[in-house]
Amino acid sequence: MNLKGRDFLKLLDYTPEEIEYLVDLAAELKDKKKRGIVHDLHKGKNVALIFEKTSTRTRCSFEVAAHDLGMGTTYLDPSGSQIGKKESIADTARVLSSMYDGIEYRGYGQEIVEELAKYSKVPVWNGLTNEFHPTQMLADVLTIKEKLGHIKGIRLTYMGDARYNMGNSLMVVSAKLGMHFVACTSEKYFPEEELVKKCREIAAENGGSITLTTDVKEGTRDADVIYTDVWVSMGEPDEVWEERIKELSPYQVNSAAFENAKDTAIFMHCLPAFHDLNTTIGRQIKERFGLSEMEVTDEVFESSRSVVFDESENRMHTIKAVMAATL
Ligand code: CP
Ligand code: NVA
Repeated sequence: MNLKGRDFLKLLDYTPEEIEYLVDLAAELKDKKKRGIVHDLHKGKNVALIFEKTSTRTRCSFEVAAHDLGMGTTYLDPSGSQIGKKESIADTARVLSSMYDGIEYRGYGQEIVEELAKYSKVPVWNGLTNEFHPTQMLADVLTIKEKLGHIKGIRLTYMGDARYNMGNSLMVVSAKLGMHFVACTSEKYFPEEELVKKCREIAAENGGSITLTTDVKEGTRDADVIYTDVWVSMGEPDEVWEERIKELSPYQVNSAAFENAKDTAIFMHCLPAFHDLNTTIGRQIKERFGLSEMEVTDEVFESSRSVVFDESENRMHTIKAVMAATL
């Protein structure tokens, strides 16, 4: 498998074999790290990390992974560069790719990261856009494999806003790897029709399926994985909280949601999560709407079903695999 020079912008651009290769490579690099085996495969190279939105996991994963691979990093924060304000994406791509060996981008529209890749001479990696979060998918697949032993045939139920980066990406990765993806949410939050159609075609080739349902009992039936994400994503206006709470509360992941799932079902979340009042926004929501937990209850989040911190650790190993393979 040779992925040298490839961008990593969305999983639609990758074959099932390529995705599986990256996940296997991540497992191998994880094992090396645990055993203290040095793997500075890209010693002397440098990568630029552009973040137009904030981050804990993705930024730290890119930085630690780059250092483990022997590389230097430059972090450009949401306000600390000329990008977009004084300099176009095309110009930024040409400047950065003359100095760096790879560029990570987290920001808004998918078209921005695609534009960056078009003008860059070095690989560009998508660290999250409004539409897709592909590095998160590799971490999630690795985690499912570690916890449940296999990927093909896994029934993954996503509850919440399924038309944003996480819902879209989980639907794409499920289609690619032969999983059964269920979007269980109010109709307004179903993924876009065109993407659903495309994913159904891909799923048919790989033995997977895509189901959209508003019925919680039906949607969670025999689930191997119940997945959720925040109800309001980065960059969305504050005003949408009220409607999201009203419309998505029936799709909160609580213990009742697991009643119809398999006994072995696990809980997943890309994080950060609103499961208690230990955050500023969590407390503000409590004050405004009286809710003390949102997309997932604290009970489920803290339960033995929850694998959320394994997922977050796997962000680093999988991001390392993407950089190791494409540089
Ligand atoms: N899951 C994830 O992307 O987390 P961060 O926003 O902290 O990077
Ligand atoms: N949907 C969330 C994912 C965070 C990792 C967001 O875009 O804010």
